[in-house]
Amino acid sequence: MDPKCAGPGAAADLGRGVANEMANDYLSANGSGNKPTPSESDNLPSVKPKEQDRLDVQHAGMLLLRGGKLVVAPLEKEPENVLDVATGTGIWALEYAREHPNSQVIGTDLSAIQPDPAAPNCTFIKDDAEDPWEFGDIRFDYIHLRFVVTCFDNHHGVLSQAFNHLEPGGWIE
Ligand SMILES: C[S@@+](CC[C@H](N)C(=O)[O-])C[C@H]1O[C@@H](n2cnc3c(N)ncnc32)[C@H](O)[C@@H]1O
Repeated sequence: MDPKCAGPGAAADLGRGVANEMANDYLSANGSGNKPTPSESDNLPSVKPKEQDRLDVQHAGMLLLRGGKLVVAPLEKEPENVLDVATGTGIWALEYAREHPNSQVIGTDLSAIQPDPAAPNCTFIKDDAEDPWEFGDIRFDYIHLRFVVTCFDNHHGVLSQAFNHLEPGGWIE
């Protein structure tokens, strides 16, 4: 299902269904009385189709909340190079690339689950954001990280790398 093609009610219903199914899976695997462990995020691996559906529904919800905007940062000019760290299904990166054909968009993730980009200006790379970033001379005008709070052991390290790879005047969101 493409959540973008459904109304808000349908997206919410799908979201609730996916969340309920995942909660049931989690409880049957871990027992209903157990407190979630710090590695709870391991129960949301994006290689699972249900988790990919959840991410795409969440993306649709974010667009609704933001009046259809993919970016909130007050960008003054069209970014030349855009990076989406921990891109998940790649839905944000692909939509951004389609909306901004003059921007070069890279999406990175631990899991190579993204589709072959249908946009010529969008590339997906399998990469651990906690490893040293290897983008050569590229400096990004806009770096996007969304729903990554549970992802990294060292958030400060990831953000430091983002700052080091930012073009002067660029934005991290
Ligand atoms: C909750 S999802 C968010 C996906 C996407 N940013 C979005 O908004 O839809 C988190 C993603 O982070 C990826 N991830 C987790 N740790 C990572 C790491 N160290 N480096 C790169 N990606 C990572 C996971 O594979 C998963 O796809």
